[in-house]
This record gives sequence, structure tokens and C-alpha cells, in this order.
Amino acid sequence: MSLTFVAAPKRLLTLSIDGRTVKVPEGATLLEACRQQGIDTPTLCYLENLTPVNVCRVCVVEVQGSRTLVPACSRKVEEGMVVSSNSERVRASRKSVLELLASSVDLSLAAPEVHGWMEHYEADPGRFGEPTPPGDDNARDRARPGEHHISDGSSAATVAQPTKVDNDTYVRDYSRCILCYKCVEACGVDAQNTFAIAVAGRGFEARISTEFDVGLPDSACVYCGNCIGVCPTGALMFKSEYDMRAARTWDESRQTVTTTICPYCGVGCNLELHVQDNEIVKVTSPLDHDVTQGHLCVKGRFGYQFVQQRGGPERTLRP
Ligand code: SF4
Ligand code: SF4
Ligand code: FES
Repeated sequence: MSLTFVAAPKRLLTLSIDGRTVKVPEGATLLEACRQQGIDTPTLCYLENLTPVNVCRVCVVEVQGSRTLVPACSRKVEEGMVVSSNSERVRASRKSVLELLASSVDLSLAAPEVHGWMEHYEADPGRFGEPTPPGDDNARDRARPGEHHISDGSSAATVAQPTKVDNDTYVRDYSRCILCYKCVEACGVDAQNTFAIAVAGRGFEARISTEFDVGLPDSACVYCGNCIGVCPTGALMFKSEYDMRAARTWDESRQTVTTTICPYCGVGCNLELHVQDNEIVKVTSPLDHDVTQGHLCVKGRFGYQFVQQRGGPERTLRP
């Protein structure tokens, strides 16, 4: 049998991680090399279907000869690298990142592994003091660079603010936002190319915003919901989930997830229907799908209500 190569085989590079000799294909990142070895490496702004933006720095590792710690999620492996993923410097850095985030942002709905990392690195957000009471409604949306004043140490500044509920599809609770940029990437060049949201402000006033801070209905948003699909903290949430959480009826232990194909067009996106009590409560898409890598359009993401219209006059199907 003859073999046909569709791409040149990749050269294997050798490096050392925590004293182990490791071989990975050329082009692999340090994160991929660590994961190949089963080394649990925290990530917040990284996602397989997005371009790394290196903003959270929780994934940092120490590379011999490098002055600063390097982000594992984007740094490519080089031949002969000597890497430490668990040095005192790495642990201290990861701990600080987690503490600073958790002291200012509500992480209660972040993935369980985030809470596991907090515990593992002994992050203690409480050491910055009690959270400062929230300021005026939407004060953060009006903030200009330099408005943040250094605390006297008695309380921790937070990004607490009211949830933005301005449409029937999804809500934005930026008191849960860690500024990971994933939603901006998904709205921009990595998926939707709509550019409805971006980072506004600087320093502690930095926040995700529409142009001129208009509501979503007046923005360029096309409601693809790809931002919700990548948000790691629940800052962006389906309105259906938000309402059910408010009514205390949201219960993931009673939900099933069924993968199917979107019925609307020929692109063939995979849909994951999350169903509770025989009702679809939200729709996601698997990241490893060849066609769309987890991204959908408004029809696939939100156009499921017709499935739930079960009442009304009986219809006779004609042959
Ligand atoms: S809203 Fe979510 S996805 Fe967007 S920057 Fe904040 S945490 Fe990240
Ligand atoms: S989600 Fe949108 S693009 Fe994908 S198959 Fe459905 S209608 Fe087509
Ligand atoms: S996960 Fe690597 S910088 Fe955020």
C-alpha cells in the first residue's frame, strides 16, 4: 500500500520540563508540552479556538535564560529549552494573579478548575481587605483614565456594577468580568468579524464596552452569542439561564446535553442542546467541530423556540 503525505511531517523538538526530557512537534506551545506530560497548567484567557492574547498571565512558566516569566499558552517550544512549571517564582506569580482577580471580580460562577487552582496556589483574596461597596450605578462605564485611586488598604476595590439586561437573548454582568478578552476575540477576527465590543478605558477602569457604551440593541452586535460561548466566568450569560438563576430553578444536575445538527442552513454547525424539564434552556457548540470550532450564528444559538411550541391546533401531515 502506498502512502500519500498531505503535509510534511513535523520535526520533533526536545526540551526539559521540570527535569523530564520531553519531545513535541515543532510549532507546539509550552502549554501543549506541559499538557502532554499531564502537568496541570492554569489558564484563563486561553482557549483552543481563539488566538492567544496573553493577558491573564496565570499560565506563566520559568524558562532558563529568560529574564521574565513567559506565558506558556503562546510561547512556542524551542530546541533545548529548560522549563520549570512549578518553581517558587512561578507559584508566587500564579497565586498573585488569582488573588488580585478574585479580590476584585465575582468568580463564583467560574469553572470548578479555577476554584481548584485558587486552592492549589493558596490564593487568599481576603488579604486585600473587605470588598469596597459598589459605587454609583454604571460609574465604571463613565470612568476616565486616572479615576482609580489607590486604596488605603482597608478595603479592596472591585468591579461591582449592575447587570446589563437590555435584550431577550443574553445579559452582561461585568462584575464577573476578568478582562480575558475572549469575547472581544470571538466578536472580532477569530470568529464573527463584527467588532461590536472592545476594551475601553485603561488600568483598573479598563472594561468591555460597546462603541460609546450604547446598549446592545443599538450596537453592531448581531447576537451570534459567540462571546457567551467563550466567556469563562458567567459574565456573559443566556437570558434564559439568568432568569432561571434568579428564580432559583437553574439546576445543571437535571440537565441533559444532546448534540445535533443545526436545521437552518447548509453550513452544518453542531448544536449542543441543554435541556431541563423538557425545555431547551441554552445552546452551545463543541469547540472541536471542524466547521465552526464552537461558534454559531444567531439562528443556531437562539432560534430554538419553535421546538417548544407544542400547543396549538393539530396539524395533519399529508403524504
Ligand atoms: S465578558 Fe467574559 S469573555 Fe469577555 S472579557 Fe469578561 S470574562 Fe472574558
Ligand atoms: S448556526 Fe447559523 S451558520 Fe451554523 S448551520 Fe445554523 S444557521 Fe447555519
Ligand atoms: S492563559 Fe496564558 S496568558 Fe492567559
